[in-house]
Amino acid sequence: MKKLHFNGEGRSIWGDRSEIRSVVARVARHPAARVLGIIALATIIFAAALAPLSSLIVEGWLRQDLDIRSRLIFRSVRDRLQSSQLGPDNDLTPYLERIAEDERLLALGYCSETGRLLYATSLMPKDVSCETIRQGTTTFDVSSVAGTRAQVASVALSSGTKSGHLLVVHDLSFIDERSGKAKFYTILALTGASLGLGLLAVGVVLTLMRGWARAIYSAIAGARGTGATPPRTAFPSDRDFEKLLNTLRVERKFTEGIYVEWSPATLHQLLREELPGAQVMIVSNREPYIHNLVEGKATLQIPASGLVAALEPVMRACGGVWIAHGSGSADRETVDSRDRIAVPPAQPDYTLRRVWLSDEEQDGYYYGFSNEGLWPLCHIAFVRPSFREADWGEYFAVNAKFAEIVVEEATCDDPVVLVQDYHFALLPRMIRNRLPKATIITFWHIPWPNSETFGICPWRNEIIEGLLGSTILGFHTQFHCNNFIDAADRFLESRIDRESGSITLGGRETLIRPYPISIEWPPSPLATQPPIDECRRRVRERLGLSSDARIGVGIERFDYTKGILDRMRAVDSLLSLHPGWRERFAFIQAAAPTRSKLSTYSSLQNEAARLADEINKRHGVRDWKPIHLVVRHHEQDEVYELFRAADICVVSSLHDGMNLVAKEFVAARDDELGVLILSSFAGASRELSEALIVNPYDTTSMATAIDRALHMSESEQRERMRLMRELVRQHNVYGWAAQMLIHAARLRKRERIMTEDPSTQRDGASFDFEKLFTEPLR
Ligand code: G6P
Repeated sequence: MKKLHFNGEGRSIWGDRSEIRSVVARVARHPAARVLGIIALATIIFAAALAPLSSLIVEGWLRQDLDIRSRLIFRSVRDRLQSSQLGPDNDLTPYLERIAEDERLLALGYCSETGRLLYATSLMPKDVSCETIRQGTTTFDVSSVAGTRAQVASVALSSGTKSGHLLVVHDLSFIDERSGKAKFYTILALTGASLGLGLLAVGVVLTLMRGWARAIYSAIAGARGTGATPPRTAFPSDRDFEKLLNTLRVERKFTEGIYVEWSPATLHQLLREELPGAQVMIVSNREPYIHNLVEGKATLQIPASGLVAALEPVMRACGGVWIAHGSGSADRETVDSRDRIAVPPAQPDYTLRRVWLSDEEQDGYYYGFSNEGLWPLCHIAFVRPSFREADWGEYFAVNAKFAEIVVEEATCDDPVVLVQDYHFALLPRMIRNRLPKATIITFWHIPWPNSETFGICPWRNEIIEGLLGSTILGFHTQFHCNNFIDAADRFLESRIDRESGSITLGGRETLIRPYPISIEWPPSPLATQPPIDECRRRVRERLGLSSDARIGVGIERFDYTKGILDRMRAVDSLLSLHPGWRERFAFIQAAAPTRSKLSTYSSLQNEAARLADEINKRHGVRDWKPIHLVVRHHEQDEVYELFRAADICVVSSLHDGMNLVAKEFVAARDDELGVLILSSFAGASRELSEALIVNPYDTTSMATAIDRALHMSESEQRERMRLMRELVRQHNVYGWAAQMLIHAARLRKRERIMTEDPSTQRDGASFDFEKLFTEPLR
């Protein structure tokens, strides 16, 4: 027989030890295995109970038999004595020897009435004596004789004037042997019969269960109207039922809005069932994996971007193509001849298609129009937006370049394209013109300002019209949706249905919906994190903090919208108002340099460094300083370590679409402790209302909030944190993507019905989309 051999790494010739364990566990969990187990157990108990009984019965029978034999021997001896001349005075030994030839008869003897053994056959055991005989009675005793079990029968026998006792000694070992055999055959027979019956019962049960499972499956399939035939499962297990019920749950969610635990698996299922065979593409400026040259070697980096953090797990679940600007210094070296690379590099799930942009294109499209125009326009941070015609030209050209690549990558005429953010406001319309049947879901990750502010943009109409090429246009909050609808109302001639939240332009309807973005749950960086105390120890050691120092953190890109300066001023104010925190509290500000080419960003970095120095000088004592400004990119595991080491996390955005740092802090705290201080101007404050909500412009009240957080009891922290964690768990990023895909699937179905039945088509004003992009630029 083949044997399992495990080597030092826990692998056997049949695979991984854990694989074998999991197969064994799966088999053991199977209902049939359980039924068989119960039957086997019942059989053993039943047989174990009956076997001693059978051996008792057999022993009883054999003992009775022996008694009869002893009496027979006695009678024959007595008759012989009476019918012959032999008397007890004669030597009876030869006569007794002849009788004792019987195989089970051990010995025969004759005792005088005075208790003396007068005659005995040669094998008479020494330990049989006449002393124990009760005169005049017949006895059948069982005792151990010469090491074996024997029956010693003594019967009163008189001849003439003499009387004595005949001793008949029978070997009982054959009884033990026979009752042992009886026991064995009884167990064998009972086990065989029970197992046979059990197997028959299992067969009947399984046939019934299979029938039920197929009936349930058909009922679900019938209810869904898919007419799918049941799978040919020979043996329905818990998993099959779980899968069926899950299908039902997800189905009900799609149609009735009941709660579904969204995960990569359910998202995958949704795609399979609601958008069967659809090709999924993501378009974003920032790529999820950057290869940079570090000391002559291509080194992988994951950018500090909320967008990437949210969409990467979705893409891993869905597969497909992610089209993005290849911005890394070693990006070109790592792609194939079609500018593609399979990612994540360690275990690929989807394709990254890199798009190359010249310095000129980057300056105009990315730094110029996107980050000096739209970014300050959409964020109320009092940085003046700059709009330059040349930048707009590059913005238009780069959007057109990406549209070309979307068409090139499309393997069908109706892909699902997820367009991301303010870098691609024109792209939805451009894709729509080339692939009219595509489902285009655009998500605007930053706030949308009120129409008065938006009106500043010289290309406001083109931007709104470009976005209305989408099937669905999503924002984080209803407030931003309303702002967009107001802008469309104010600047375009379109049909607006505020009740359904849709805008129809040129006969084509776009749904405007809030989809608050989130993070993956459970967050993957958490899997490799050490316990909280260890995180704290490491961070304190790294920054030279005392072992009882309280820690506050702020982690983000070095962006003026994040309120980094305001938060430092709040720490300054805390130490002035509550000097007791000196030497006891440290604030770690981790900031990743971003868009440093722009003066607003570089001057922010300088200003932050100057302010940190000033505050540290004002409050610093010996080698203790309150603010630790760490300006560099932090990898995800470092970010989570900081979150876990912290007593408080401060998110003081002056304006933010959502802010995923707030949600990541909550997700990192599986100890349910830590306090989140959150700006009321971040979209996250609509959902995480158990945080301490602050106005970042009000430095004193922010300082008070920090003091309150540092004094908050563990039970209050736990109560708040639990509620926030529950919210992030339920509304995770898979749910975010699922909501948009569910709506898209519904619209796709509706579109199909309308195409098939022209009578249901709506009248739409004819609108020349092409004109928008073929006319010369202003
Ligand atoms: C914001 C934007 C994202 C962008 C991120 C990082 O969150 O909404 O689109 O990816 O900032 O900015 P960066 O300019 O470095 O890509």
